[in-house]
Amino acid sequence: MKFSSLLLVAFLLHSGTTHDCVIINGSHFRADCHNLNLTDIPQDLPKDIEFLDLSENNLGVIVNKSFARYSHLKTLELQYSKIHTVQPEGFDDLDNLVNVSLAGNELNISTDGLFVLKSIRNIINLDFSSNTDSSVKTGYLFYPDTAFQQLTKLRNLSIDLYEHPVFGPGFRYLKLHSIQFKRCSIKALRNNTFVYFPDSVIELHLTECKLIEDKNIEINLLYPFPQLSILSLSGTSIYLTKGLELLYPFRNKSLEILDLSHMVKPPNYDKQSSIPDAIILTTEKTQYLKTICVKTLALADNNIVDILPHSFFDSDWKHLDCLEHIDLSGNRFGFSSLGFQMRKTSPKLSNLKIFDFSYIPLRYKSANYLPVTKDLKANQFRFKHEDESCSDAAHSILTLNVPLPPRLEFVRITRVLGAPPLIKLNLQNTASVRYLDMSYYDVKCFPVIFINETENNLEYLDLSGIDCELYYKNIPFFRALKTLIMRGSHFYRAVENNINLLLNAPNLTKLDLSSNSLFTIPSSFLKHLKSLATLRLSHNYLNNVPSAIEDLRNLRSLDLTGNRIFTVFPNFTSWFHSQRTINTTFHLQILGNDFSCSCEHQGFIRWLNTTKITLDKVKSYKCRLANGSSTTTQVVLHNFHSLFTNCYATTWLYIGISIVISAFIIILPTAVIFNFRWRILFFLYRKFRKIVESNMNLSYEYDVFVSYGYNGYTWVQGTLIDKLETDWRLNVCLEDRNFIGGKSNYEQIAHAISSSRHIIFVVTSDFMSKPFAAYEIDQAKEAKSCRTLQKVILVALDICIQDIPTDLRSIWSDVSVIELSDNNRDDQLSLENLRTRLLLNF
Ligand SMILES: *[C@@H]1O[C@H](CO)[C@@H](O)[C@H](O)[C@H]1NC(C)=O
Ligand SMILES: *[C@@H]1O[C@H](CO)[C@@H](O)[C@H](O)[C@H]1NC(C)=O
Ligand SMILES: *[C@@H]1O[C@H](CO)[C@@H](O)[C@H](O)[C@H]1NC(C)=O
Ligand SMILES: *[C@@H]1O[C@H](CO)[C@@H](O)[C@H](O)[C@H]1NC(C)=O
Ligand SMILES: *[C@@H]1O[C@H](CO)[C@@H](O)[C@H](O)[C@H]1NC(C)=O
Ligand SMILES: *[C@@H]1O[C@H](CO)[C@@H](O)[C@H](O)[C@H]1NC(C)=O
Ligand SMILES: *[C@@H]1O[C@H](CO)[C@@H](O)[C@H](O)[C@H]1NC(C)=O
Repeated sequence: MKFSSLLLVAFLLHSGTTHDCVIINGSHFRADCHNLNLTDIPQDLPKDIEFLDLSENNLGVIVNKSFARYSHLKTLELQYSKIHTVQPEGFDDLDNLVNVSLAGNELNISTDGLFVLKSIRNIINLDFSSNTDSSVKTGYLFYPDTAFQQLTKLRNLSIDLYEHPVFGPGFRYLKLHSIQFKRCSIKALRNNTFVYFPDSVIELHLTECKLIEDKNIEINLLYPFPQLSILSLSGTSIYLTKGLELLYPFRNKSLEILDLSHMVKPPNYDKQSSIPDAIILTTEKTQYLKTICVKTLALADNNIVDILPHSFFDSDWKHLDCLEHIDLSGNRFGFSSLGFQMRKTSPKLSNLKIFDFSYIPLRYKSANYLPVTKDLKANQFRFKHEDESCSDAAHSILTLNVPLPPRLEFVRITRVLGAPPLIKLNLQNTASVRYLDMSYYDVKCFPVIFINETENNLEYLDLSGIDCELYYKNIPFFRALKTLIMRGSHFYRAVENNINLLLNAPNLTKLDLSSNSLFTIPSSFLKHLKSLATLRLSHNYLNNVPSAIEDLRNLRSLDLTGNRIFTVFPNFTSWFHSQRTINTTFHLQILGNDFSCSCEHQGFIRWLNTTKITLDKVKSYKCRLANGSSTTTQVVLHNFHSLFTNCYATTWLYIGISIVISAFIIILPTAVIFNFRWRILFFLYRKFRKIVESNMNLSYEYDVFVSYGYNGYTWVQGTLIDKLETDWRLNVCLEDRNFIGGKSNYEQIAHAISSSRHIIFVVTSDFMSKPFAAYEIDQAKEAKSCRTLQKVILVALDICIQDIPTDLRSIWSDVSVIELSDNNRDDQLSLENLRTRLLLNF
């Protein structure tokens, strides 16, 4: 009912007026007229609207009494509406207005501003910033204090700061809480610049001021703000050194947020060196800071290259216990300088929760300022030689024992290119840490940080960009870990060496293994992750939806973007559906794969059209037609019937093959009866086959690929090879013989299987423990489904059929099984069976 009346209002307005304002009858009656290219204030909106959005229009002049009709207005949005003039009575009758934004217009606060201010007595939030462009902000500007003086309810003020601002004594009567200076062109920061501002201000943003001259900075600038709690000088280019001096009036006081980030000057290209001046923190520079109780301290991007002893986090710092969040990112000092000071003081950082030390862009080479020699004598840390993987004759590695602040929860040390080769941190008491992001940390040895196993409560760990080989053998147990991000960390090496480092994180709900050059992910790596809900495997080399996922009963989202998947088989599509619950859908991302739109896979294309699971936003995927030309699944769906009529042609080829084979089967007994030599028979058969295969564009490098485990080695080398190559003249590919070193085994297996006519799995009890078994099975499955592979034969060597590993049974329906008994491995009957199956496709 309510909805329909709402629609009715909207409809009436639409039909009855010349503009397209949208009226919304919510808790506040509002009219949204933004970006409609209006040139004046519409006079036909409902009288009692409380909220009017006229931003991004083309209003020009606000004429007398423009808003007289809308006396109920509480909020008025006029930003970026090209207003350049306000007539003396332009804003009259807006007595209820509490919020107004005039940002981004072309108004002059000391002329037009006057007419605005006199009419909005009850304003609370006023945004008058970004008016006029920087070229005309020079000279003196008078901020009309007598008009401001009337605005006793004003709390938030956002305004531009001109080169030489003049704030009159009237400002003293305001009860401002927050001031934001924007478009800051101020030249000088004097003791008396803000002297008339009220002492009620608790929040001050003096940011992005780029024109201040060093000689014009006086340290009592902020004296008029004794109650200040939030101070930001971010982007104001007076250098951190000056910024720290401006803290003079706050000695022994408290600040909630102190943002002194990015206070560098743009490089001066006139000078010979374009390197911005480096900052070294000294006791003198931090003398005021050390007396202030600060909760959040941001010193990011300041080109700090070193911290001298007793200047930071040292025992003179009175209120270390106030700190909750510190950001030191984007500087150039190694953690070592800080670490040295923290060894003693970090227990005093008793409330520190967030520590950010990221984006340290330059390798720190100079040890000039390192207090190494002195502290070495004090024997506070020791050289560590015993660690072989990291011991480097040239660099002796120091281990620095730093106790962690007791409540530290969140540690971000991403993209650090500094110190690690020199220093290893041995952090103690890591129990409080929940979140650790150390992605792209430039390490040669790992761990840079030792994490105590019994105290390990990490919930989030990002190890992207760090070669997992550095740690996969000594990764601690993460009992609480929920999120593990390992993008681009060479995870394929763990798979290749069958080292399952995920065993140490059994409670993961989110796992990201993107960009890891994975050809496969074995079931054994994932099947214990019972809570896993999100799995990202994007940008790998997967050929198939990995069957490992079928063990993950809680999986709700799978990202396979940018792999080499050519189709999704029906067992997976139905599994995805079964993963949906009443409230949740299953998310599958498969963009960036090269799908096959040939006849065999038309089922998948049709599934894309009908599935109820959530796919990528763009539901059109690249795919390849049977003749090799590239198109999209959208196009294929459109022309579904015309495209797949071709399928009959392919079918014809299959019929052809069948006829050839059947004919042969009929000839066969006769041939045997007449004791034809097998070789002649095969010769003829091969000729026939070649004709068929060339018709189907199939060409093979090998006749047979033989896959075997360690226990099968003797039989394969002693008996099988002999039979295959000498007696039956087949071209055989053996991993031990035909693979060359230095190339990825995955690549070689994939190539060998796809260019072999048949594959023989010589299954022994140890078969699945060979490193690439699962991968070979996957590849065989794929080749089979692409019809490049014609026959899969299992030779059960020392194993009963019922003991054949389940992974192999997944291709059960497609394989021929030959059992060889343990005591008669030269059993002629079985070998002949094998021969027949290899040479004839049945
Ligand atoms: C607007 O009002 C002022 C006086 O309040 C008057 O001087 C001026 O002429 C009016 N402008 C127009 C265009 O009516
Ligand atoms: C005014 O703006 C403030 C801050 O943007 C907002 O919290 C408040 O709800 C607004 N008041 C009205 C009446 O719209
Ligand atoms: C704004 O108005 C004042 C007073 O008329 C004038 O001195 C100043 O130059 C004006 N500023 C601009 C940018 O027009
Ligand atoms: C001042 O502005 C801030 C940020 O927009 C807002 O959260 C706060 O509510 C405003 N204060 C008042 C009194 O409206
Ligand atoms: C500004 O204030 C500081 C601290 O009170 C004082 O030392 C300095 O002399 C003042 N500067 C000027 C120019 O008055
Ligand atoms: C492949 O087949 C499609 C549709 O049958 C056709 O439009 C396209 O031109 C063919 N491409 C080539 C290279 O033959
Ligand atoms: C795709 O779905 C639409 C609507 O559900 C249906 O009309 C169309 O026939 C489907 N196309 C194919 C090829 O199944």
